[in-house]
Amino acid sequence: MLPSDRQAHEILVGAVGLKKHFPVKGGVLRRTIAQVRAVDGVDLFVRRGETLALVGESGCGKTTLGRLLLRLIPPTSGEVLFNVPANLYASARDRWHRIAQDDGAMRSPKGPQGDGLDPYAITRLRTRAFKPLRRRMQPVFQDPFTSLDPRMLVKDILAEPILINNQMTRPEAMERVAQLLQEVGLRPDHLYRFPHEFSGGQRQRIAIARALAPEPEFLLLDEPTSALDVSVQAQILNLLKDIQRRQGLTYLLITHNLSVVRHMADRVAVMYLGRIVEEAPTRELFGSPLHPYTKALLSAVPVPDPKRRREKILLPGDVPSPVDPPTGCRFHTRCNAVMPHCGWSPRDAASAAAYLFDSSRNPHASTLPALSEVSMEGNRLRLLFGGSRPTEAQRQVVADLVRGRAAEAGGMAFQAIREVALAEGSIVLEFPPPLEPAWVEVAPGHSVACYLYPQPQA
Ligand SMILES: Nc1ncnc2c1ncn2[C@@H]1O[C@H](COP(=O)(O)OP(=O)(O)OP(=O)(O)O)[C@@H](O)[C@H]1O
Ligand code: SF4
Ligand SMILES: [Mg+2]
Repeated sequence: MLPSDRQAHEILVGAVGLKKHFPVKGGVLRRTIAQVRAVDGVDLFVRRGETLALVGESGCGKTTLGRLLLRLIPPTSGEVLFNVPANLYASARDRWHRIAQDDGAMRSPKGPQGDGLDPYAITRLRTRAFKPLRRRMQPVFQDPFTSLDPRMLVKDILAEPILINNQMTRPEAMERVAQLLQEVGLRPDHLYRFPHEFSGGQRQRIAIARALAPEPEFLLLDEPTSALDVSVQAQILNLLKDIQRRQGLTYLLITHNLSVVRHMADRVAVMYLGRIVEEAPTRELFGSPLHPYTKALLSAVPVPDPKRRREKILLPGDVPSPVDPPTGCRFHTRCNAVMPHCGWSPRDAASAAAYLFDSSRNPHASTLPALSEVSMEGNRLRLLFGGSRPTEAQRQVVADLVRGRAAEAGGMAFQAIREVALAEGSIVLEFPPPLEPAWVEVAPGHSVACYLYPQPQA
């Protein structure tokens, strides 16, 4: 038990600066050659008794974030707090970000010590000390078939977590099992069956009963109904709602289905490439989404009112790789409202530059010498021309080509270039340092990370 447990605090689960980077191994020696930045600096809180929905495209890090919150996997850095007062959570978040800015990186997985978080930080507990807490945070995953042991009878599947966690005798535990089964809408005769003898919906009911068995306070619902028939989905969702009302549970609901979000959630957090980009109460998010990514996601949801038609926004391209996410605003490569200061970098212009400044391929570059190399150095793109030192006149030609490309459709990366200079025998195109938009609270409880909204003064 955490020392903080004498009191029920407003925030049941909170994350500050949470990161999870998975190593990518390669080569004969299986060395780490890169990192998948699955979760890359997330702050998130779930209030006691509420349902927070977490949405975002496949691969953006939702499941990894859920697993981190339950301490099923250790974080690379950042903290997970349990049962924490709201003011302490807010100050922990501010302090964490000050440190991140000062150091340029989080210092250690343990975070700054002596910060008053010890009584709440489950990420600081040793495995033994965390054990009694584990029962209070339970997961329900998408596919109940793989998460239920096929060789065990339902009664044993449900009795196991009770016997492990409680001091109950076996008859007492069996009484509790019968009660659990009733709670999830199954019959007593179901106790003596194996998981494969049930339908998908019934199996998910068993998985929910098993999650409830150790009397948790927090449930991680990771796509709990997406493997089920549409007709059964509503039953399971209503069951989850009923259970929440009866037992005062707190949910983190991960789903692709935005209609499910509207039906179930009090608040929504929108995730893109390992980051939260917008967070708002459900009605507000659906009524006035702010982030261009959220707008695109919501544009796919049917609007109940036929007079209010919504244009479907198609996002170009796939989600970029989390191994090397775009600089600045991570959404800038796909955003339909993108601006020159949204985080463009040499990477975004390099392949176009290889054509644009090549006299053998582009007739408008015919006065330039042969282009021999395009290379990237930090926020500079360097153009090398076959052995000869470029002249001021050639620099001017390059600057004109940059201006021309910037004016064309899809030329935003070139609009971002702030200087074309002669340097060390080459021509250098300089981009601004790629800064990420700040997390700004635009209305009470409605926050967004996007340059379209006023940024705090530096
Ligand atoms: N154990 C792991 N090792 C390496 N990479 C991983 C691991 N788990 C997840 N990833 C990677 O981390 C990223 C995020 O994965 P995650 O499963 O959290 O996404 P998700 O948002 O839940 O996707 P989906 O909606 O498809 O379930 C992906 O690129 C995934 O390939
Ligand atoms: S900061 Fe906003 S406008 Fe700019 S790319 Fe990102 S989402 Fe689009
Ligand atoms: Mg997932």
